[in-house]
Amino acid sequence: MNCFPLIRVFLFFYCIFAAREEIIYLNKIKTNMKKAFLGAALLATLPMWAQQKATVTVHPEQGKEIISKHIYGQFAEHLGTCIYGGLWVGEDSSIPNTNGYRNDVLNALRSLQIPNLRWPGGCFADEYHWMDGIGPKENRPRMVNNNWGGTVEDNSFGTHEFLNLCELLGCEPYVSMNVGSGTVQETAQWVEYMTAEDGPMAKLRKQNGREKPWKVKFIGVGNESWGCGGNMRPEYYADLYRRYQTYCREYNGNRLFKIASGASDYDYNWTEVLMKNAAGQMQGLSLHYYTCAGWTGSKGSATQFDDAQYYWALGKCLEIEEVIQKHIAIMDKYDKRKRVALMLDEWGTWWDEEPGTIRGHLYQQNTMRDAFVAALSLNVFHKYTDRLKMTNIAQIANVLQSMILTKGDKMVLTPTYHVFDMYKVHQEATHLPLTLNCEVMSARSDYFGRQEGERKLPMLSATASRGKDGVIHISLANVSLKETSEIELSLDNIKVKDVTGTILTSKNVEDCNTFEKPDLVKPEPFKGAKVSKGALKVKLPAMSIVILEVK
Ligand code: AHR
Repeated sequence: MNCFPLIRVFLFFYCIFAAREEIIYLNKIKTNMKKAFLGAALLATLPMWAQQKATVTVHPEQGKEIISKHIYGQFAEHLGTCIYGGLWVGEDSSIPNTNGYRNDVLNALRSLQIPNLRWPGGCFADEYHWMDGIGPKENRPRMVNNNWGGTVEDNSFGTHEFLNLCELLGCEPYVSMNVGSGTVQETAQWVEYMTAEDGPMAKLRKQNGREKPWKVKFIGVGNESWGCGGNMRPEYYADLYRRYQTYCREYNGNRLFKIASGASDYDYNWTEVLMKNAAGQMQGLSLHYYTCAGWTGSKGSATQFDDAQYYWALGKCLEIEEVIQKHIAIMDKYDKRKRVALMLDEWGTWWDEEPGTIRGHLYQQNTMRDAFVAALSLNVFHKYTDRLKMTNIAQIANVLQSMILTKGDKMVLTPTYHVFDMYKVHQEATHLPLTLNCEVMSARSDYFGRQEGERKLPMLSATASRGKDGVIHISLANVSLKETSEIELSLDNIKVKDVTGTILTSKNVEDCNTFEKPDLVKPEPFKGAKVSKGALKVKLPAMSIVILEVK
């Protein structure tokens, strides 16, 4: 509702009263004119109940930070059908493929302009022995994927398959080393195998068909070392980190960016201990944050939820801002010059697995609610791009909040994919600070039985950037399920001449793309923005995500 609630209440009751009078009167003289008048009066009044007013002021002259493209990073783990079936089907598959990679998925991912891809896990990384995944496929040993459903892993997708995929996608590889159950020697040799021109590991690589080393910059030293990566204390891990990273050598000018395994959500002590004891040996420190209702019991259905659960999830998603701020404050204490980057290398929604799917494979559907989690999160990440240099949504295909779902030879793009596609213009653009005024609701905080205090949920979320070509992009998300947002949008001294836009919305917030209806949720041209005296008036429908291109 806008700022005139009393007038509206008055108008509403007036209309009801008028309608009653009209009906009595119309029963006597039934003229079409009277009916039309009554209809118009009601139509003119009712939409006023479903509107909010908001203002957004973008400050182009204050823009100084470049939004790291790596904020749009992806994550592919040996988990469920992420790799096998999702990305990789093998050369002999009847599913159209290029050297074993599915063509449909390759094309869809190329369009996203993925900057980096993290692999092989996740929890899987700390049980993975890379030498099992090289050489002739028939000789590669099989292993049990203990973390994820006990599935047998045949190692047919290994180092060559991963690094070649990165080359096909034009993205940088981010390789997670096995600290939990691996050795320092394994780690050292893996780096050598991938990046050295010469020496015993380079020789082995060449025997396996790859002459030139790959370029590998991002190296993760362990994953969730406080949990599935070894259940370590931060003090112990800090020492292990220092030791393992020592032997990750830089061959032939290949510069490494070494990332220490970071905290989960609210574990600020982990960040404190790591920064205190190992900041000098790292380029990045990771962090994981999932939008879910905790780690025990039900996380809630991915596709069946009520309004309260929807708003709760968005409140939880936005809580990431405070979590990022607190981890950054600790990092600032030890690293004032912001040399060490914060790497949120796992984030996204985590719901109950889709009924009927294999337990432990974390396959979930993806609705408009997930699209909002993506948009709101990215809007937050842009604000901290001076410290937050990389994020990796979990995961790229068929697992958690994925970009893509596959079933046999079919593929669908999720609403989250569409957000990433719409938002890719923000990669490497200059972040433009903005001031936003909108309604704020109090999201019910105990929906999943956890008392978490009140969460404030702004009904509008926005971000803006200026590309290298000078074009300004403004992303807006109206999270309200019922009310249109009428936005007065201005850009300080800049007079807007032209605006175009794209919108992602759907009839119901539970809508998702299925193999039967793959295009139920998809972006469309947006016509709700009008230039008015150098500023913009935007009518953002309820439950919509819009990106504007402003000239
Ligand atoms: O993304 C799924 C899992 O979540 C990862 O393997 C692990 O690091 C995290 O707990």
